[in-house]
Amino acid sequence: MGRFLAILIWLVTGGTVAFFAWSKAKTGWWFPEAISTHAGAMDRQFNLTWVVVGVAFFLAQVALGFAVWRFRAKGDERANYSEGNTRTEMILVAVTAIVFIALAITGQRVWASLHLNQAPPDAIQVEVTGQQFLWNFRYPGLDGRFGMTNPMLYNDADNSIGSRPGPLGIDPRDPSGKDDVVSGLMVVPVNRPINVTLRAKDVTHDFFVPALRLKQDAVPGLKINIHFTATKEGRYEIACAELCGQLHHQMRAYLEVRSQAEFEKWLGERAPK
Ligand code: CUA
Repeated sequence: MGRFLAILIWLVTGGTVAFFAWSKAKTGWWFPEAISTHAGAMDRQFNLTWVVVGVAFFLAQVALGFAVWRFRAKGDERANYSEGNTRTEMILVAVTAIVFIALAITGQRVWASLHLNQAPPDAIQVEVTGQQFLWNFRYPGLDGRFGMTNPMLYNDADNSIGSRPGPLGIDPRDPSGKDDVVSGLMVVPVNRPINVTLRAKDVTHDFFVPALRLKQDAVPGLKINIHFTATKEGRYEIACAELCGQLHHQMRAYLEVRSQAEFEKWLGERAPK
């Protein structure tokens, strides 16, 4: 029985590792194509983590199978009581700690480059506001400044393009809000830094663009900045990655990456007259 169990453990382990390696190499089940300047670093970090964790999993399961085989019941001998081996335990804990702290530090560097650095001053500004259950995208218009918003003015019934105050409650008394553009579609120019200011109207949402390898919570009462540069034109999915209510699964929008000229044309067409 002990031998059978050990072989079963090894077979399941080998099968699992082989399946993961195969699905990563041969199928499209993993990430979509990466289209941002930081995505390479993110994917390298992910792959490194995956390999390290995979090797640890494999070695641990092989050792488990070995223990099951080696210490299986033979005849009717009595079981041995073991007090363990302090030295082995210390070594295992130290190795595990070093590996995980090293992964955390390298991962933190990639994360910090996105979240803690300022976007370049010429970045395109987009304010992204989550609400149950849709995304609003606001552009500051020619003056480069977002108009003030006021939660008392929220008007979800009127979300026609250019409407004031609309779903974001843009205060009509603030002149810098007059040329703000609000859209349900996010359009950005290719190869330009984009600075996103994340807000939420009601509960916590999470702005997730898999193709950009970008994911950040939007929290009511906070303005959270992240930035990215998209490197390939196309249409990409934006999902909400935080369970935010009954229709969370429907909270989806699209990011369209276009040429600079097409972006300006799109924005110009929506500018309030
Ligand atoms: Cu918003 Cu889930």
